Amino acid sequence: MSGGKAIYPGSFDPITYGHLDILQRATEMFDKVVLTVAVNTQKKYVFEADERLKLIQACIENEPWAHKVEIDQFTGLLVDYCSQKGIYTLIRGVRQISDFEYEFRMALMNRRLNNKVDTVFLMPDEELTFVSATMVREVAYWGGELNHFVPKVVADELKKKYAKKDD
Ligand code: PNS
Repeated sequence: MSGGKAIYPGSFDPITYGHLDILQRATEMFDKVVLTVAVNTQKKYVFEADERLKLIQACIENEPWAHKVEIDQFTGLLVDYCSQKGIYTLIRGVRQISDFEYEFRMALMNRRLNNKVDTVFLMPDEELTFVSATMVREVAYWGGELNHFVPKVVADELKKKYAKKDD
């Protein structure tokens, strides 16, 4: 499959190798992928939206597929953002069955809110199926090794964030 545009929404708090794997796969399927930092009201974020955007930019800038990615942010309903952009295909990564239940409900809710909006689920490399931003933050909090889960630029910022807890 190739062509068209898609939106890859998420919290990206922070971006991980799992997200980057999904993003790269999406760029192989679509001409343009708009990665957008959105607000999940169920979450309390560690990084401000502009910090997350900067980290995403730093992680992708040297990738050969970076020209296919636009980085953006929004606050509000995803379906409204889709209408604003005129892009009705959403990308979401699904790591395991336990993710699927929530993702399935969200995809159907989005489609009920706007019938044009459909979601494409992509699976990351199996080596990354256990990686989540939540667990990465937990490892960072306790000073664990982060290099397998996030690029160095993200690991460095996480370390800085959590170094403050010891002050
Ligand atoms: O990375 P996340 O936290 O799983 O991403 C979830 C996100 C931000 C994509 C989702 O919460 C979202 O779309 N938020 C905007 C409000 C909205 O449209 N929610 C979905 C319909 S209830």
